[in-house]
Amino acid sequence: MPCPICDDTGWKPVEIDGVSRVTRCDCWRARASDAQLGAARIPRRYQHCDLDTFVTYPNERLQNAVRRARRFADEFPVVEKGLFFVGPPGIGKTHLAVAVLRQVIRTRGARGLFYDTRDLLKVIRSTYDPVVKTTELQVLEPVMRADLLVLDDLGAEKPSEWVGETLNLIVNTRYNEKRATIFTTNYEEKEDTTEPDSLLARVGFRMHSRLYEMCDFLEFEGADFRHAPPNSGPEELLALWKTLKRPGKLPTRSGGPVRAEAREPRGRADLRWSGGKAGS
Ligand SMILES: Nc1ncnc2c1ncn2[C@@H]1O[C@H](COP(=O)(O)OP(=O)(O)OP(=O)(O)O)[C@@H](O)[C@H]1O
Ligand SMILES: [Mg+2]
Ligand SMILES: [Zn+2]
Repeated sequence: MPCPICDDTGWKPVEIDGVSRVTRCDCWRARASDAQLGAARIPRRYQHCDLDTFVTYPNERLQNAVRRARRFADEFPVVEKGLFFVGPPGIGKTHLAVAVLRQVIRTRGARGLFYDTRDLLKVIRSTYDPVVKTTELQVLEPVMRADLLVLDDLGAEKPSEWVGETLNLIVNTRYNEKRATIFTTNYEEKEDTTEPDSLLARVGFRMHSRLYEMCDFLEFEGADFRHAPPNSGPEELLALWKTLKRPGKLPTRSGGPVRAEAREPRGRADLRWSGGKAGS
């Protein structure tokens, strides 16, 4: 059935200051935002994610993270900083990131893009042609230019110099252009910054310092939703969180002793992916 307002032309008449004009019809806007949503690369598992369906329970830092996510989505594109969700698996970091992304695409018509960090690096690497170096840019450009980018699971990639440079290029470009980015990670800050599982060791000094400038850090923990009974509500999640609550929950990916190279001076580490040596 054609649109009753515009007969599928995509334009509808409006009167502004007594002058007849045309403007985009609501049906056109809806189609445009559907197309934007489709182009955002949101994985199927997360395509239903909304802020309204996110279950909260008495967990102050989780509630704060949700509040900040909501505020960011409501105020976008007038936002100073992006968001950085830090915490253990299954607590809803990716859910929140996608919920914000979907909301700003739908309500603001933003060009939004989701990438798992490892997938992004894989795509860039697979299209990298050392001779012409053109396809690489085709992948990188939308990543750098998206109004809102979600980079999921930062730090999970195997660190190397190339990885460090590539991610720094993306993050720096977005930072310079004042484009907002939402990150998620399992790697929290550690007092001992030479600890291979610390966020700093995983992402390197340069990226680490940029991240703080670019984002509000929202570190939280909670019930692992993947271990919760189906259709869990606040009571179930609170009970599960309490039973699972114990110190040192974050995953340990390389438990070995910290090597001397990980403690190299700041200046040199700036040029490198410091976590690479600790992890390899
Ligand atoms: N509070 C919540 N309310 C509703 N659904 C939730 C909640 N927390 C998590 N989920 C759901 O549980 C699943 C796992 O959550 P999600 O993938 O966001 O976790 P994560 O913190 O990103 O974990 P990881 O660190 O392993 O990536 C998703 O399907 C998500 O929609
Ligand atoms: Mg996740
Ligand atoms: Zn219409």
